[in-house]
Amino acid sequence: MNDKQILITGATNGIGLAAAEALAALGANLAIVGRSKTRTRIASARIRAAAGTGATVATFIADLSSQDSVCRLAAEVLTRYPKLDVLINNAGAMYGTRQLSKDGIEMTWSVNHLAPFLLSKLLLHRLKESAPARIITTASQAHQGAHIPFDDLNAERSYRGFGRYCETKLANILFTTELARRLDGTGVTANCFHPGLVATGFNRNNGLLMNLGMTILRPVARSAKKGAETLVWLATSPAVANVSGVYFFDHEQIPPSPEAQDRETARRLWDISERQCAVSGRSAAARS
Ligand SMILES: NC(=O)c1ccc[n+]([C@@H]2O[C@H](COP(=O)([O-])OP(=O)(O)OC[C@H]3O[C@@H](n4cnc5c(N)ncnc54)[C@H](OP(=O)(O)O)[C@@H]3O)[C@@H](O)[C@H]2O)c1
Repeated sequence: MNDKQILITGATNGIGLAAAEALAALGANLAIVGRSKTRTRIASARIRAAAGTGATVATFIADLSSQDSVCRLAAEVLTRYPKLDVLINNAGAMYGTRQLSKDGIEMTWSVNHLAPFLLSKLLLHRLKESAPARIITTASQAHQGAHIPFDDLNAERSYRGFGRYCETKLANILFTTELARRLDGTGVTANCFHPGLVATGFNRNNGLLMNLGMTILRPVARSAKKGAETLVWLATSPAVANVSGVYFFDHEQIPPSPEAQDRETARRLWDISERQCAVSGRSAAARS
């Protein structure tokens, strides 16, 4: 993996950190994205300690809830890397109460769906130039039973933290299938996966009760290293070099929910997401 440049979000903790350590151990060149300078520095030290011969670790700071910040991140990555082999959209969060981003967009939607959407779009040209290349997004089985609320996309009428999270994970899968369709023939693949129930920092930001719930679940959850295995495999294995638009769990292709397989829903979501990112996208294009 010495000649591979990988960009990964959410690598300061949990599944992303474990994946970055494993990929660096294989000799890959990692560019990790974090929103806190301190946590990003600590994570990069851990990844360096795990790194194999020839691996490099670079850090980028971006708050993925802000579209401006995503655009700045993409611009920095494009300036620094003439070649980008793998983009891993892994960062994610759940907000128990409705909060708005700087852009006025509900936070869980903003971080979990719009950030991967915008970052991938802004880096797409470089990924195509670097083909064969891969885009991997961390989705979840939590998408089962969820629907995209096209009539209330900003969750103004109703908000349930976990329900909203499930919608964003459905959006991750729909985004992946539509992206794969658009990338057909370019040499760039797009896949997503469910990591299992993993003991991480997930949902530790939602008060005492949720924290207690996550602690109770810990004994039945898998380790971050185990949760990252399919991600590492998707980023490196020749077995999936030509596979695209697929949802995986434990190295196996599994069918997502019927709504996640609906092409019309995927197209509609893409168009709406483009509109939700339109202002930032335009200013990023103007800057580049
Ligand atoms: N844990 C599970 O059981 C599970 C199951 C299915 C899917 N997933 C998915 O796995 C992915 C990784 O989550 P995890 O379980 O590893 O949780 P985690 O330990 O909380 O890690 C989440 C990562 O995302 C980053 N992040 C969150 N909000 C961000 C923002 N606004 N800007 C930049 N970075 C941000 C966090 O950075 P900070 O260090 O700054 O907080 C952290 O590095 C998520 O997409 C999640 O939906 C998790």
